[in-house]
Amino acid sequence: MTRQSFARNAALLITVCLFLAPLRAQKFDGLALTPPMGWNSWNKFGCNVDERLIRETADAMVSQGMLEAGYRYLVIDDCWQGIRDSMGWIHPNPARFPSGMKALADYVHARGLKFGIYSCAGNLTCAGYPGSRGHEFQDAITYAQWGVDFIKYDWCNTAGLNAASAYTTMRDALFAAGRPIVFSICEWGDNQPWLWGKDIGHLWRTTGDIAPCFDCEVNHGSWYSLGVMKVVEMRKGIRHYAGPDHWNDPDMLEVGNGMTVNEDRAHFSLWCIMAAPLMAGNDIKAMNGATRDILTNHEVIAVDQDSLGIQGFRYTTLRGGVEVWVKPLVRGDWAFCFLNRSETTRNIEVNWKDYALEDGLSKQAINPAATTYTVRNLWKRQNIGSTTQELRADIQAGDVLMMRLVKQ
Ligand code: GLA
Repeated sequence: MTRQSFARNAALLITVCLFLAPLRAQKFDGLALTPPMGWNSWNKFGCNVDERLIRETADAMVSQGMLEAGYRYLVIDDCWQGIRDSMGWIHPNPARFPSGMKALADYVHARGLKFGIYSCAGNLTCAGYPGSRGHEFQDAITYAQWGVDFIKYDWCNTAGLNAASAYTTMRDALFAAGRPIVFSICEWGDNQPWLWGKDIGHLWRTTGDIAPCFDCEVNHGSWYSLGVMKVVEMRKGIRHYAGPDHWNDPDMLEVGNGMTVNEDRAHFSLWCIMAAPLMAGNDIKAMNGATRDILTNHEVIAVDQDSLGIQGFRYTTLRGGVEVWVKPLVRGDWAFCFLNRSETTRNIEVNWKDYALEDGLSKQAINPAATTYTVRNLWKRQNIGSTTQELRADIQAGDVLMMRLVKQ
């Protein structure tokens, strides 16, 4: 090949690549290899968001040990929006965010956190503020300029839209804007996002909105929000859709928002067994020690953040109704969570040799009859014996006994 023809071919190749680039839009890969962790304003503060709350929460995320425990994304949910101007650009509400979003993102970033925001695929958000429909590419450019790292994208007021297409449009817009942004699909499960979400977003809501109660439903007129166990029961058989970079999202945490300490602990344990995103939803500035201990228990969080990324499952239910939840972990370890959903204390007797099981999905297996495991109580952070010994324990109402079986 002559030098001229080489140059000509190279120029042609570059032209073809540039031409094809927009066609190859994709999600930003690798941003959520473990379930995203952070804080979101909605569950506690609803529409009462302003820059002071976000700054104070950013400071508290650091001082309360949340960042150190892994909670990185600080996400402002609905109601931050002001007007869309005559050119179609979105602006924050100037009364609530007088310094602007870029300055706020800088403040959050300066504390080592990442900055997240909310929008909606419809014309209006769920709370009635301007949504992104028809402005996806403009909004993505704006978010990139502000320094956004995470976008929660909701599904209200979307009449006539196809869910997979609408979320693909926003995915492509984010990719075109060029800033890696975690894309959180908030479609509530109506259009089965686990079937199409993997190449579009990093996580997708599987259910409607969570409520701060263990097993209730809250009637809002045209819709219900769901207590923790209602969320857990609502979607079964979708664990195989989850994995590194594409997670089932049973909604943000209600730890610290009014349940008992036992129930908060059970809620958090189940989210970790399910490899759920861990978005705290309480007032971090004012949380008490019990709430902080739950949210920042490194050993329980390690179950959620395990690099295998296998969503755990309910293995069996014992006499008396205690449920046994399990999750395969790296190096052949397993998490076991015994859940007492009843309203009275339950006693369990566990002969570990009865717990030989294989997970059909991941092909991970455990056989305590053949291999001995150290048994570690994760909430007490204590080794409590080995699988050669029988385990007897009382589990209080609405509480769990959560253990890691560590291969010896
Ligand atoms: C929907 C979402 C919630 C929250 C609100 C905001 O209900 O599911 O998580 O974002 O909208 O209006």
